[in-house]
Amino acid sequence: MAQTTDEIRGIGHSVKRKEDDRFIRGRGNYIDDMQLPGMLHMAILRSPYAHATLNSVDTSAAAAVPGVIAVVTGELMAQHNLAWMPTMSGDTEAVLVTDKVRFQGQEVAAVIATDPYIARDAVDLIQVDYDPLGVVVDPQSAAADGAPVIRDEKEGQTDNHIYHWESGDKDATDKAFTDAELVVKLDTFYPRSHPSPLETCGCIADVDPATGQATIYMTSQAPHAIRTVFALVAGLPEENIRIVSPDIGGGFGNKVPVYPGYVVATAASLLLGHPVKWIEDRSENLISTGFARDFHMHGEMALKRDGTMLGLRTSLQADEGAFHADAQPSKFKVGLFHIVTGSYELPSAHVVADGYYTNKAPGGVAYRCSFRVTEASYLIERLVQNAAYELGMDPADLRKKNFIPEDAFPYESATGFIYDSGNYEGAMNKALEMIGYDQLRREQEEMRAQGKYWGIGLASFTEVVGAGPHKDYDILGLKMNDGAELRIHPTGKAILKISAKTQGQGHETTFAQIVAEEIGIQPEDIKVQHGDTDNTPYGLGTYASRSTPTVGAATAMVSRRVLEKARKIAAHLLEVDEDDVEFTRPNFTVKGAPEKAVTIQDVAFAAYTNFPDGMESGLEGSYYYDPPNLTFPFGTYAVAVEVDIETGVWKVQRMVAVDDCGVRINPMIVEGQIHGGLTEGYGIAAMEQITFDENGNCIGANFTDYLLPTSWETPMFELGETVTPSPHHPIGAKGVGESATVGSPAAYVNAVIDALQPFGVTNIDMPLTSAKVWQAIQDAQAATA
Ligand code: CDP
Repeated sequence: MAQTTDEIRGIGHSVKRKEDDRFIRGRGNYIDDMQLPGMLHMAILRSPYAHATLNSVDTSAAAAVPGVIAVVTGELMAQHNLAWMPTMSGDTEAVLVTDKVRFQGQEVAAVIATDPYIARDAVDLIQVDYDPLGVVVDPQSAAADGAPVIRDEKEGQTDNHIYHWESGDKDATDKAFTDAELVVKLDTFYPRSHPSPLETCGCIADVDPATGQATIYMTSQAPHAIRTVFALVAGLPEENIRIVSPDIGGGFGNKVPVYPGYVVATAASLLLGHPVKWIEDRSENLISTGFARDFHMHGEMALKRDGTMLGLRTSLQADEGAFHADAQPSKFKVGLFHIVTGSYELPSAHVVADGYYTNKAPGGVAYRCSFRVTEASYLIERLVQNAAYELGMDPADLRKKNFIPEDAFPYESATGFIYDSGNYEGAMNKALEMIGYDQLRREQEEMRAQGKYWGIGLASFTEVVGAGPHKDYDILGLKMNDGAELRIHPTGKAILKISAKTQGQGHETTFAQIVAEEIGIQPEDIKVQHGDTDNTPYGLGTYASRSTPTVGAATAMVSRRVLEKARKIAAHLLEVDEDDVEFTRPNFTVKGAPEKAVTIQDVAFAAYTNFPDGMESGLEGSYYYDPPNLTFPFGTYAVAVEVDIETGVWKVQRMVAVDDCGVRINPMIVEGQIHGGLTEGYGIAAMEQITFDENGNCIGANFTDYLLPTSWETPMFELGETVTPSPHHPIGAKGVGESATVGSPAAYVNAVIDALQPFGVTNIDMPLTSAKVWQAIQDAQAATA
């Protein structure tokens, strides 16, 4: 795909990541590396109960510890009208508890001290008197009659129901089910999972009492949105708030919400006149910050006997935790779940979703994929696989029969998305060819005859990323558009300022490559600045694979804007009409006389030294991009798994992933993103699990209980690609995000079920621990006996 030379290295070149130079030398600049003069340290006391009335908080012993400067309680925060704050979903959330705790790990009080260890020790001396209350840890019990009402402080809230949301055409879908020759049903649960960034959340709040200037260094994926929320919460003038997100050690959605720790540290800095640092530890991160998934799903598919899909019906229950705090576009209560029709020509679909409060930390963040798209892709692929078994059709053939054909794009799905482009059969054929599907199916038969159980699992998915067009997409009313500013210096070097915030995705490299592609300046001569609200254009941040579709587009557009002026200056230097100037990066030449040339660097110098009369000096511009549509990456994954039916242990023998994210800006970075997503997909399929006991105790508050796959367990990946550009995107790219996360869990589960077909196992929920797989075999055998 590369169009620029190996010297310019624009789009399509696997340029080594510019940012890695500082990371591999240990020169990254993370919050916890930063020290400010006079800085104090904050530690938080968290509730051991999941639901309990707070009777009293005695801070006297903690306050008496030498080195402790202040102990902050909910009561103190309430005196400043800061005990509650708005969430990104328009709900309210307690900053420090005043009335009752609503989940285990909730913030009750905070100690500010001269040293982090003193602060943490003093936290243990705070005496709290609680009265435990009844606990609810799943949406079914939350909805039951007589369930304790978790959010009883909210006016008019008499139960635990948060929202009801529907999408699609109910009548048309009901008719499809009436006409159906086969209906396939599935109840499944996508378990709660935790983004688990290597760096936990934290901040340093530095409020100058003399000027009112608040500089908050924060682990945030969305610094601009946070600045606006802070202005609204604290009533501070927005121009006096500066949010700086320095290097971030992974976000994955975990660093989008506003956490109470940020607010308490800022209030403490304001009151004490010192910078205040707060860094949570690993267990605090696991127990109290944004979770993902926790989605209970019922799906039904209507089909004809020949395999033609007629309709899809889903009903969902979302466990949102004690506060509805996820950052979904406000119009869509369960995010973009209505992509659930996937890659299929489904004439009708209807989605019904209900959200519930439970006594758990707030969840629902866009973890390693767009908003709820992982859950949707999982459900449809499990249903398709089950339909294939019931029809006795090869799962690959059933998919191919129903794929939206290549010539049907743009295609309007039954739930109203306009898919911009796709070639689903192309991606599937490539995956089948790479894994040797036909041969593998033959070998599977032979192995079964020898008592070896291999399964082959497929998943084809269509993601929806790049939120989004202003008419439909906002968070708290803020439109999801993003900006880029480009300034070329006299010596031909450039600075690009973007609204996105990299957390490891390599934006400093890929966005420089977009500029290189457009105007011919090499990536190493372009500094990419991000994460500082005083010095970057406004935007809604980086999550849900939106950076490339929005900020990548803004970067291409601002480059084109700057190029328009550069062309005029080139014409002036070449002493010809602008229409006679040609641009072949990095040279402007005269049409028909290519020996007459100036480079973009010559033009940059002239922009400050020798520009036409009447022209403003300088070479720079800005652009805010409002995407005309979302983008729709897709792919097919194929896995081969061997299951030991004596023990339930399963082993991945092959894993093939074919992704199509349109034009790849940096193929190496895209592969890295896919590796990350595949690892997460494997992790959730095989081992990751955070559960809660009946008292709301979080089981999974450390890495010995919450298992993440390391390189040791993770199976090898074989990657393939197809390239179907997004027609409306200025460079044809789609976000790659972590589309792998979408397809791979379904492919693994489908493979294990495929292996266990002879035993009649049709449904197992993740994580597929060996005990669970073994039990499924026993249950299926008992049911058929
Ligand atoms: O929003 P986020 O950066 O997490 O996701 P993304 O926009 O999907 O991009 C992830 C990384 O892959 C970024 O560095 C992108 O520039 C890069 N990418 C690419 O090189 N080519 C694509 N077609 C899509 C993404």
